[in-house]
Parts: sequence; C-alpha cells; structure tokens
Amino acid sequence: MKADKLDAARVANRAPEYVRRIAPYTPGKPIEELAREYGLATDAIVKLASNENPRGPSPKARAAIAAALAGITRYPDGNGFDLKQALSARYGVASEQIVLGNGSNDVLELAAQAFLRPGDEAVYAQHAFVVYPLATQARGATGVEVAARDYGHDLDAMAKAITARTRVVFIANPNNPTGTWWPSAAVKAFLERVPREVVVVLDEAYDEYLDPGQRSQSVAWIAEQPNLIVSRTFSKAYGLAGLRVGYGLMDAAVADLLNRVRQPFNVNSLAQVAALAALADTEYVAESAALNRVGLAALGAALDAMGVAYVPSHANFLLVEVGDAVPVYERLLRQGVIVRPVGGYALPRHLRVTVGLPSENERFVAALASALGR
Ligand SMILES: Cc1ncc(COP(=O)(O)O)c(C=O)c1O
Repeated sequence: MKADKLDAARVANRAPEYVRRIAPYTPGKPIEELAREYGLATDAIVKLASNENPRGPSPKARAAIAAALAGITRYPDGNGFDLKQALSARYGVASEQIVLGNGSNDVLELAAQAFLRPGDEAVYAQHAFVVYPLATQARGATGVEVAARDYGHDLDAMAKAITARTRVVFIANPNNPTGTWWPSAAVKAFLERVPREVVVVLDEAYDEYLDPGQRSQSVAWIAEQPNLIVSRTFSKAYGLAGLRVGYGLMDAAVADLLNRVRQPFNVNSLAQVAALAALADTEYVAESAALNRVGLAALGAALDAMGVAYVPSHANFLLVEVGDAVPVYERLLRQGVIVRPVGGYALPRHLRVTVGLPSENERFVAALASALGR
C-alpha cells in the first residue's frame, strides 16, 4: 500500500520539535538553474553569490586531483595524515591539534555537536554566518543572538551575553555576509573576558583575504586558551569550495572530542590531495588576495559613483544597500547576474555580491545600474 501524506507527516512529527523548527539554508542560485529558468546560456551568466575564488583553484591543486583520480576506489585516509602534517608545519601546532572537516562548516557543526545539549546556550552576533544558529538549533540548544553594532559583532555586548548556560560562542572574523572585521588585539581582549570553560569558535574562513599585516594571530593563542577553536577553509581563497575541505586548530584534548563525533571519512581523498597542493602554492593565494583587493576597490568606486551605499568589506564580497532587495535581485537575475539576497540575515535592503574577475565585476555594476535605473 502506498504511503499517504498523513503517514509522512506522522513520521516527520517524530523528529524533535527543535529540528522541525529549523529554517532550511538557502544556497546561492546555481548557474544551471538560472539558465533553465530564464533560457540563458550558462556561459552568459555571472555568479557572484557564494564567495568563491573567481580564478578557481591553483593549477597545482588541479594536477594533484588528476593524479589522485585512479585511487578513488579506496577510502580516504580517515586521519588525513599528509594534510595534517602540512598544516602542522604551516601553523606550528601538533597534528593532534588539527581536526579536518568536510568544509569548515563541518568543523562548526562538530564543535556544536561536541559541546551543545538541549538547554545549553550558544552566543553569536546578529547578521553573523547562518550556520551558527543552524548548528545550535540542530542540537536543541538555545541561540542567543547579540545585536550587531554598525553591522559588525559587538564584542563587548557578546561578552556580557555569556551566562552560566553558555557553552559555545561563535565569532566570524571577517563576518559573512557583512564583511566586518575586528583586529586581532580586539579579539584577544574579548577572549580574555570569556570564562575559560566556554568554547569560542573563531571562524576565520576569509582570513587569507586580509592585508598581510592584518592576518589573524589567533593560532598562537591556542597554547594559552584551551577553549579556543580556530576554523579555516580551503573553499574561499584556495578556490576548492566544491571539494569541501576545511580544518580547525585547537587544543589536543578538544580536537580529540571533535574527532570522536566526526564521520570517520569526512574528507574525501581528492579534497585531501588538492588541499595539500593548494596550501603549498602560497603565491597563488597571494595573487588571489591581491586580485580581490583590486576588485573590492573597483566595486567600491563604481558604487560610490552611482551613489549606492555599502558596508566596507575585509573579505571577498560586499554588502550593498539597494533598497527593497528582492526585486533588485530579480532584475539582476534577468540580466544573467546572480548575487545573494540576505533577507534571511535580517538585511532585507541589502544584497551580498562576491568579488569576481574584473570583467564579472563590470557586468555586475552595469546590471545594477540598469536594475536601479541609474
Ligand atoms: C563565515 C563563514 N564560515 C564558514 C563558511 C563555510 O565554508 P566551507 O564549509 O565551505 O568551508 C562560510 C561559507 O560561506 C562562511 O562564510
């Protein structure tokens, strides 16, 4: 007998209420989907919606993937030995202090899974990366959202929001989708105000885009702050978003806990070799960051010239104030330009635009001018 809707609803209702209440994550619109919906050629579409590196991965990473293809019959190394060795050498931490993730998203989830139970609290900022509330809610814990200041994290208010029930604090630095950023000294001062038993997840997915003098010093703090988890990713400046690989650096005892709750083979073999090669190609990452700086400046200048406001960004995207954002987003789609509406972040008047190649940035600026009638 075929199941009916009522049967399915009965099954769904068995899921905890806190799971049923989770709002689904809305990803950037895929190029193929827009092509289908609007009858556009895929190569006529510009996607500036998911903060990917417009140059793609380093050629060395591509070559490493090609060379490793023959080996995909085998399970990957569940401990990621080679990649951890390389990260260990890069950051001066022991391999035991590294947790590899299926994207850094996985590291955020693992932290939530290891430390949050129903009734616990996790503190994060308004307009902060959406995975913090998602990971919190999925464990039945309570999210404590602290009002933003000038779109960024109000670190003082966040420190004050910590209670005896707080187990985890999430900080995105720089933050997505606002591009706001705190210098290392401010983050360190914040950390010193956090009770030593409260875990601070410092999400530095965009760190490689900072000016060299601004890059985070957080890894050096782990030795004195066993409650600190620093997460980084190969999805952004390294151009490997599709492979899903990121990592967390933390005290070995904390890493041991996260490793117990992760899937044994959470990072696939192609991702591991690609990340290893990408990490070594420091020149490629530096070039990508330099191109991003040029792109940010060009976008900023074009928006200034159009009289369109935006939040100054420290990452590879720009939060642009366009008025009622959804109609503008749709007018951009019709011109083959995909950006990201951020209504879900309580920013209904903004669109988030990833910095692309110079030609892609120009396409966006022209499309926006047309969409806004400027
Ligand atoms: C602030 C922040 N953290 C983490 C991530 C997760 O990225 P990934 O899982 O690809 O490493 C993103 C992706 O958009 C992000 O913006």
